[in-house]
Amino acid sequence: MIKGKKILLGVSSSVACYKAVELARLFCKAGCEVRVVMTPNAANLVQPLQFEAATRQPVYCDVFNRRAPWDVEHISLAHWGDIFVIAPATANIMAKMAGGIADDAPTTLYLAFAKPVFIAPAMHTEMWHHPATQSNLGILLKRGIHVIGPASGDLASGDKGLGRMAEPQKIFEFVVKFFKPSQSLGDKKVLITAGPTREMIDPIRFISNRSSGKMGYALAEEAAQRGADVTLISGHTNLPAPANVKIIRITSAIEMHQEVLKLAHQTEIFIFAAAVGDYRPAKTANTKIKKQSDEITLNLVRNPDIAKEIGKNAKQNQTLIGFAAETGNLEEYARKKLKEKNFDMIIANDVSSKEIGMGCDENKVSFIYAKGKMETAGPALKRDLAVVVWDKIEKIITTKKER
Ligand SMILES: Cc1cc2nc3c(=O)[nH]c(=O)nc-3n(C[C@H](O)[C@H](O)[C@H](O)COP(=O)(O)O)c2cc1C
Repeated sequence: MIKGKKILLGVSSSVACYKAVELARLFCKAGCEVRVVMTPNAANLVQPLQFEAATRQPVYCDVFNRRAPWDVEHISLAHWGDIFVIAPATANIMAKMAGGIADDAPTTLYLAFAKPVFIAPAMHTEMWHHPATQSNLGILLKRGIHVIGPASGDLASGDKGLGRMAEPQKIFEFVVKFFKPSQSLGDKKVLITAGPTREMIDPIRFISNRSSGKMGYALAEEAAQRGADVTLISGHTNLPAPANVKIIRITSAIEMHQEVLKLAHQTEIFIFAAAVGDYRPAKTANTKIKKQSDEITLNLVRNPDIAKEIGKNAKQNQTLIGFAAETGNLEEYARKKLKEKNFDMIIANDVSSKEIGMGCDENKVSFIYAKGKMETAGPALKRDLAVVVWDKIEKIITTKKER
């Protein structure tokens, strides 16, 4: 339960920082104790007095203040708080946290704080997509920081796009869930495939695809948070292993096939989110192929259809979810695949766009069920879509049980 928890609320200078006042109120209303820590720049955008009124506590804004001369405030606050939520988190504060820079109250507190940290990034789309911000995000995620949002929508500049701070209610609910994790998938054995396969031509060259693995990893993380026993069979990605998930790393479709078969009999829920190569070179050269004539021919042979094989032998207590990534005739191909592979649900997405889908943070999908019904979701962050997908899978499992 969240009542009685001690929340440190860090506020940095995004235009969204006025919304942090509402977040502070939500925590207070739920019975939490809240102390606000602001960057000096944030204090230029919203008066600390606003937070003092909301929390009835002084705001910590200056590392060198003389309010309590014998108390080193960032250390005593670090001992005091149960969690540290930074909302909004600017690109700047994310960079400083990633680099361990401590030159203001929130960043100094961050380094002194050894308990769970949450950030709700807020910035313009270009700032979010900048390689520096994405690399800092990767470092923070690897360190176990919980990242909430950002969301898509209207931005302060008048543009639309990814980068809005998640709504205060959503941040609040995320924290509530952290303290009282749902056990709705309690110990269910889940197997998820993710990422691309590499079909080797010679020791250094391969055939692959643009899949980043982000959707599969997000699904694995969400399942683990719901108490499932999750194994992720992953092709090459740049993503950190999700917490509490067993990860098996593979290279080729043949290796993925072998690993899936080993676990198939004990798995209750399969999600086939990997982009598995349909074909592989008939022969992989043992040494690097040297330049020859102007043209060379590469003979390809079919890879095993992992999902189809599992679908053919599926038992009543097994639930199978597949993905269809297409560049045209999406619904028609997805429905065909759903039937052929005996899936309970297929998640179809158009991969012709560069902004969403394969390799991107966001996706827009259609859910097509074995009985024919279709629903849509997104565009939304893959992390947020993972929550929607698992809500739907849980409904499928309940319906199957009732039958
Ligand atoms: C009105 C205004 C709105 C801003 N909004 C954002 C924002 O949403 N996200 C962001 O990363 N930076 C934003 N900035 C830029 C940051 O305030 C700037 O990078 C600052 O140095 C960050 O300092 P801090 O992280 O210490 O608060 C904004 C600046 C202004 C003046």
